[in-house]
Amino acid sequence: MPSNHNTETDFVHFFWTQVDLEKTAALAFVFLLDCMVVLLILNPFIWWSDSQNATNFLVAARNASASTTNLKDVLADLIPKEQTRIKNFKQQYGKTNIGQISVDMIYGGMRGMKGLVYETSVLDPDEGIRFRGYSIPECQGLLPKAPGGEEPLPEGLFWLLVTGQVPTEEQVTWVSKEWAKRAALPSHVVTMLDNFPTNLHPMSQFSAAITALNSESSFARAYSEGVHKSKYWEFAYEDSMDLIAKLPCIAAKIYRNLYREGSSIGAIDSNLDWSHNFSNMLGYSDAQFTELMRLYLTIHSDHEGGNVSAHTSHLVGSALSDPYLSFSAAMNGLAGPLHGLANQEVLVWLTALQKELGGEVSDEKMRDYIWNTLKSGRVVPGYGHAVLRKTDPRYTCQREFALKHLPSDPMFKMVAQLYKIVPNVLLEQGKAKNPWPNVDAHSGVLLQYYGMSEMNYYTVLFGVSRALGVLAQLVWSRALGFPLERPKSMSTDGLMTLVGAKSG
Ligand SMILES: CC(C)(COP(=O)(O)OP(=O)(O)OC[C@H]1O[C@@H](n2cnc3c(N)ncnc32)[C@H](O)[C@@H]1OP(=O)(O)O)[C@@H](O)C(=O)NCCC(=O)NCCS
Repeated sequence: MPSNHNTETDFVHFFWTQVDLEKTAALAFVFLLDCMVVLLILNPFIWWSDSQNATNFLVAARNASASTTNLKDVLADLIPKEQTRIKNFKQQYGKTNIGQISVDMIYGGMRGMKGLVYETSVLDPDEGIRFRGYSIPECQGLLPKAPGGEEPLPEGLFWLLVTGQVPTEEQVTWVSKEWAKRAALPSHVVTMLDNFPTNLHPMSQFSAAITALNSESSFARAYSEGVHKSKYWEFAYEDSMDLIAKLPCIAAKIYRNLYREGSSIGAIDSNLDWSHNFSNMLGYSDAQFTELMRLYLTIHSDHEGGNVSAHTSHLVGSALSDPYLSFSAAMNGLAGPLHGLANQEVLVWLTALQKELGGEVSDEKMRDYIWNTLKSGRVVPGYGHAVLRKTDPRYTCQREFALKHLPSDPMFKMVAQLYKIVPNVLLEQGKAKNPWPNVDAHSGVLLQYYGMSEMNYYTVLFGVSRALGVLAQLVWSRALGFPLERPKSMSTDGLMTLVGAKSG
């Protein structure tokens, strides 16, 4: 029996001996033409499949650790790589100058002075915040949603902030379940919250409860037992996960104690996401309110490293104070009216405006009201920013939420009217470097619409969200071995001598 090889050889032999060359050339030409036609027809599909492959490749790269749902395992894989990358960078560029410091900068609250490394987000003056490189609209598109939901789940944002990777739905579900598992409060914290006087501001209660939670700190315990510094991040991670899990319970307890006659927050449902459980514990069952919470808790999470709350946690953490102590310190900063408390201030100001001028206000009357605020030496809350120079994208996405869900709400209409008027007045006054609205100009109005009218409470919600950013960074700060933060301060006399100025 002839072998296959022989058959092939026979065929080739037959082909070259039986078919004349001209005929072969003609056949080859027709064959080539056919191939070209087929390629032309298939081209879009080939292109599509190539671009699909490219997209799949990108998604695969982004989800490099998609095979595991355990965040700590993903971190354990990422940390040594990042440590090496930064070590090499410092070796090569450690002595390179990146800016100059002027006397104005020192007196001006260190504006524009590059002095911190903060990995989780970066703020562009014109474009606004980017979480690990992704803008808010990109996050809204990319991050997993709850079944039937449209807003991103904060769990996904946390995963992104910690790893720099867009998580899969399974990874986000893992985070939800992990936080549900870790949510229980120790009894001394519950007792303390139950005993606070009702005139203690919700933010003070929030910060005090977080400080008291440090009885649970595995970081503090490990440190006291002499753990090696290479393991710090693991305990910072455990504390951060526990703390984030417990914050909605603390926040809901404060809310119920102050505004719902101390009624129970109920139990955590491990099948629900973090925001859904939080809404339930607060006593809000409207699905749209839960969606608002998901958006709210995502967008308030992080705003690079120099803002008061992020910088405070960074600073306090650098003394190796545990995540509870570092975060409660941050919350005391967030409670300031120029920072997080501005969302309360906006509502106080809007309510006073409504009371004085009534429901429907003419543009002219509104202008006068804004001018009166300025002339009385106060700021217009919700407007201006230390870094931003355009409308805050966090304002824009809340405005879009309002346009979708509450377009006819009178309070929203007032906020929209102010958006047309305040910037012009601030420009006319010529002091504020940024006349545009920030995140706080919008959030309270959305909360009011769903029945949460207790404006003193709003900054607590901000605080719950802010934990996601600053604690993600805290884990990295310990992983990267950031040292004690200790900038050099100077007296005015010392500064004058330094620059050669004559005193007086
Ligand atoms: C956010 C804020 C604290 C930034 O401060 P900043 O970096 O010092 O801002 P600027 O450099 O633009 O300030 C320059 C001047 O404009 C004033 N200014 C800034 N924003 C203003 C506002 N919304 N209303 C009135 N005046 C304002 C400042 O008070 C300052 O006045 P001064 O020279 O008399 O001290 C400031 O814009 C502000 O107070 N806004 C209102 C509070 C608020 O919404 N905070 C939340 C921020 S997310």
